[in-house]
Amino acid sequence: MSDLRPIGLFDSGVGGLTVSRQIFRLMPQESTVYFGDNAHVPYGPRTPEELISFADEILTFLVSCGVKYIIFACNTNSSISLPVVRERYAVPMIGLIEPGVREAVRVSTGGRIGIIATEATIKSGAYQRALKALNPDLAVFGQAAPRLVPLVEAGRAGTRESLAAVAEYVQPLKRAGVDTLILGCTHYPFLEAEFREVLGPDVKLVDPAEATTIAAREEMSRLGLLNNPGGSVQHRYFVSGDPRVFQETARLFLGEEIPSVKQVKLD
Ligand code: DGL
Repeated sequence: MSDLRPIGLFDSGVGGLTVSRQIFRLMPQESTVYFGDNAHVPYGPRTPEELISFADEILTFLVSCGVKYIIFACNTNSSISLPVVRERYAVPMIGLIEPGVREAVRVSTGGRIGIIATEATIKSGAYQRALKALNPDLAVFGQAAPRLVPLVEAGRAGTRESLAAVAEYVQPLKRAGVDTLILGCTHYPFLEAEFREVLGPDVKLVDPAEATTIAAREEMSRLGLLNNPGGSVQHRYFVSGDPRVFQETARLFLGEEIPSVKQVKLD
């Protein structure tokens, strides 16, 4: 059986494209519907009530597009909204936290794990709890980095400004001696070069997108939701704000044009 329906994914803006990238690589036979809520970016300073209400509107839209599976391509929503909204929809869903944590524990050499993420994700304690649940002996260090998402959304990754911001946020984690750092926001892999430069070669960087896509593929296979290779594949993009800004930033980071991005007004 081949399930031609698309996978839905969403984020506050371009960050979730780091998850799309992994879907294109690991499940090239799958179509996708991407929603970037760039009218509400950044999500980091939002309250849980706001985030849950945005997630509900976006999920309703994705379900109306006929998606068969949903990936929360946003750590902030994976931390806060997913546990609340999961039961409201018949479509199976996955978030980034558990797969990211399992990968971090797998690669960590000394059990000293840092998480860098939005204020909302760090404040939620979702990563810290998930890490401790896997292994209570881990030393866990969280760092919020509120300036990074606006820099990425403005297309200013790869600049002196982004390097200085990353260096400032990473400093306490370096002092704590982390051996592994979870990039706990889907925008941050676009700043990987900055993280690498500041941390040096020995600290392991974990982008939860890859582990999450692998976990999604396993679950979809179990549920009989995978598409067979060889069919036609379509990727559709929707935003709540300005489609041109999304398109421009996406082109900068992906190195290719997204031909059509449609604006959808959420209530
Ligand atoms: N990229 C999202 C995340 O992974 C949201 C970032 C934001 O808008 O603050 O948390």
